Amino acid sequence: MAKFTPRVFSGIQPSGGLTLGNYLGAMVKFVAMQEAGTHETVFCMVDLHAITVPQKPDVLRHNTRELCAGFLAAGIDPEKSILINQSQVPEHAQLAWVFNCVARMGWMGRMTQWKDKSGKNAEAASLGLFAYPALMAADILLYHATHVPVGDDQKQHLELTRDIAAKFNHDYGVEFFPMTEPVIEGPATRIMSLRDGTKKMSKSDPVDASRINLTDDADTIAKKFKKAKTDPDPLPGSATGLEDRPDARNLVNIYAALSDRSVDDVLAEKEGALFGYFKQDLADLAVAKLAPISSEMSRLMADPAEIDRILARGAERAREITVPILEQTYDIVGMVR
Ligand code: TYM
Repeated sequence: MAKFTPRVFSGIQPSGGLTLGNYLGAMVKFVAMQEAGTHETVFCMVDLHAITVPQKPDVLRHNTRELCAGFLAAGIDPEKSILINQSQVPEHAQLAWVFNCVARMGWMGRMTQWKDKSGKNAEAASLGLFAYPALMAADILLYHATHVPVGDDQKQHLELTRDIAAKFNHDYGVEFFPMTEPVIEGPATRIMSLRDGTKKMSKSDPVDASRINLTDDADTIAKKFKKAKTDPDPLPGSATGLEDRPDARNLVNIYAALSDRSVDDVLAEKEGALFGYFKQDLADLAVAKLAPISSEMSRLMADPAEIDRILARGAERAREITVPILEQTYDIVGMVR
């Protein structure tokens, strides 16, 4: 891997509002990697992925801009990082086509996200939903990204990305695409629903009380944590005491991630506390962390033209990387240019 420039790529779908899961599982890590300065960083609103399920055009446009505002408010600096929406960098879709011809039907059929989202009626799902992971591999490999920070739910897609890179390199006898490393670390790799600690917190859950949205006001955040499912036992003194207590573990994980501490560290302080008290502390902490982000998002959304300028500039910078990589890919594959 030594010949590849250290580069981070990650993406978020503009298919709904941002959740606390996206923030803690992804954005906080994006900002940390940007600030570490050891890698070039590229972050993407994956609008082409969003249309694998039906989207209303105006809502998609709004959500893409709001997601951009979320990136900026969380601390992504468009000078330090390249910030783009996927559809403005056409090489994503172009490389995805090549990867559609590398990936195998069997690989795609085994993706748990495909199985979950296509459900019992796979015949009616879009072809795009089935091919989704090839586009995701293209997002990453188009930048020769070496590291991809994500939540735990993306692990299988990152393994597939490595399979696609390996098969391409093998089939064409090149060492062109890197074996990208997933970065899945910390207490927030899997934030669960506030209503069911065995289910992932998700922007597509029909029950709004199951998640914290970055746009929720302080009252709503406090109410949602107050009503979050827990058990009657007090908090244990260490992480092992949370095994078999998924709802309790989830709230402690959220507290640890929001305060940038380890779970054991939090429990050493809170041992013996009842959830009535702990939830209040958690709500206060969440409001203190999230309120500035949500008000900055509203401020940025008042000037959508500025957001569009940032994305246009991001696309220009991205294409300095993506055009040459796509051209080399086309040469390897045998396209006349
Ligand atoms: P998406 O939009 O579902 O989620 C964006 C990021 O947030 C993380 N995440 C979570 N982390 C912890 N707990 C949760 N409950 C939670 N919910 C979401 C996700 O793991 C992800 O990191 N396929 C991707 C988007 C994508 C992408 C890429 C990611 C497209 N191309 C290339 C990385 C690299 C997705 O649907 O993420």
